[in-house]
This record gives sequence, structure tokens and C-alpha cells, in this order.
Amino acid sequence: MSETFLMIKPEVVSAGAQPIGAILELVQRSGFQIRNLVQRQLDRALAQEFYAVHRERPFFASLVSYISSGPVVCVHLERDDAVRRLRELVGATDPAEAAAGTLRFLYGRSLQENAVHASDSEDSARREISLIFGRRP
Ligand code: CMP
Repeated sequence: MSETFLMIKPEVVSAGAQPIGAILELVQRSGFQIRNLVQRQLDRALAQEFYAVHRERPFFASLVSYISSGPVVCVHLERDDAVRRLRELVGATDPAEAAAGTLRFLYGRSLQENAVHASDSEDSARREISLIFGRRP
């Protein structure tokens, strides 16, 4: 078993329980177990730390404002080959390029408002899980 991290972004969370539920159902039907889940609003400092890898990118300031603009749903997930499987389910960063049936195809609006974030490696998954849920004993 391996682990990964999913974040449902503010524009989806503000749309209410139905899309959150539909996304979590698809994730569970795809073989993931939910280990932990929390809805919270990231402050700017945590958002900057979460996306630190992008700090030199031209979209960084906009990304930090957007991701801290309202509550997000953070999910710690487990299954075999979790990082790769979740990235497959999430689809391409740009919803316009995401394969049919992927979460970004179904729920994404734009390159920035792309519905969900998924960890891009096992190291990122551990880091993101620790940032949001704290270190486990
Ligand atoms: P995510 O997978 O969470 O990782 C970084 C986020 O930055 C990405 O999803 C998008 O929300 C956003 N992003 C990536 N590329 C761009 C871009 N070119 N312009 C604006 N936002 C972007």
C-alpha cells in the first residue's frame, strides 16, 4: 500500500456538497481508501508553503490568492501505486486537455481553477500530508 494526497479546490467546495460527494465517490470506486479528510481554509503562509515549488512561476501570486480564497477539502488516500493511479484519475493540469472521465475533465473550469490537486511524487505526497494533517507518530 502507498499513499497520496488529494485537494478539492475552492471553486468546487463553494459549489456545495454534491460535487464534493461525487468526487469522493469516484475516488473510492477507483480503489482508494480514505485515511483522513478535512475541510479547511489555507492561510496565505500555508498556501505559499504548500505550492513553494512554484514560487518562481509567473502564476504563483495568483495561485496563492486563489487557493487561499475559500475552504478546500484535503484528503489523505491509500491504495497500491497511489500517486500514479490518482494522477491518472485526476487528468491533465489543463481541463481542456484532460481525458474524458477524469476529474479535471468533469469538474475543471480553467488552467488555474482545475478542480483538484494531486501529489506528483511519493515525496510530495508525504510532504503535503504532513503539511495538512501534521506528522504521524
Ligand atoms: P496543481 O496541480 O494544484 O499544481 C499547481 C497549480 O497551479 C495547478 O494545479 C493549477 O491550479 C495552477 N497552474 C498551473 N499552471 C498554471 C498556469 N500556466 N497558469 C495559471 N495557473 C496554473
